[in-house]
Amino acid sequence: MKLSAPAKVNLSLRIRRKRDDGYHEIETLMAPISIADELEVTVGAGDGVVIRCDDPTVPDGPENLAAKAVSAFARHTGLKFRAEITIAKHIPHGAGLGGGSSDAAAVLLALDGLLETGLGVETLEQIGAEIGSDVPFFLGRRPAWARGRGERIEAAEWEADKELSLVLIKPSFGVETPWAYRAWRDSQEIPGVGSGEQRWGDLTLVNDLERPVFQKFLLLPVIKRWLLGREGVPAALMSGSGSTVFGVCESRERAEAVAEAARDEFGPEPWIAAAGRWSESEEP
Ligand code: C5P
Repeated sequence: MKLSAPAKVNLSLRIRRKRDDGYHEIETLMAPISIADELEVTVGAGDGVVIRCDDPTVPDGPENLAAKAVSAFARHTGLKFRAEITIAKHIPHGAGLGGGSSDAAAVLLALDGLLETGLGVETLEQIGAEIGSDVPFFLGRRPAWARGRGERIEAAEWEADKELSLVLIKPSFGVETPWAYRAWRDSQEIPGVGSGEQRWGDLTLVNDLERPVFQKFLLLPVIKRWLLGREGVPAALMSGSGSTVFGVCESRERAEAVAEAARDEFGPEPWIAAAGRWSESEEP
């Protein structure tokens, strides 16, 4: 079975408190976008999982979230099977774009189809939440609010024709999510770099993880300020725990133009892309 696994951006991410289980209670608005990994999943007799990925920096062992999805699915259903997964990677990792979680969700959807288990959204979300907080969101692939540690999903009001034109910039370094959450409570805002709320249409854009991450990775506030200084870029924000910073653009043409200008400004090191909202028609 062939599937796409889209990336996401967090248009808003608020941290409410640290919980007793070590996670943080959050409220986040996520939207899937038109940058996606391509997966091919096959199942056969036997057991175990083989992962092939064209990006050598992605782990191909049991720590890969796609491999974790296979073992979680086998554990829940009690089925014995061998899975082979080929991943063409287009979403950078350590980027706050949910690439690994999206791959895991795509594997769960593929296995549910191939093995004809008909588990339904609720059970798949439960299995997904065991793999990672963002996995349940990627089972729905629709703009959604996520609460709890991120695993409780509620579809967001999102007009069918609402445009989302983005330019995304991810420096060559990534950010470790557990570190970003740990550093949040005692972090300070860098003077002159606003991490407060931005209005964009009827949405309020804000990311509470900018404060700790910007304090350590000083290139990121520079990128945010540069994006906000471009014409036709009404808002800019870090996605998830970074290191991607994205600008919301007034049109797709503007996003392409700003991406081009960013390549001139920041050189060949960062990953830079223009993207729109994800649509089901992009499924293979
Ligand atoms: O759930 P996931 O494995 O994606 O989370 C990675 C790490 O990020 C967690 O182990 C935790 O340290 C941190 N985290 C958190 N609060 C959340 C989500 C993640 O503290 N809501």
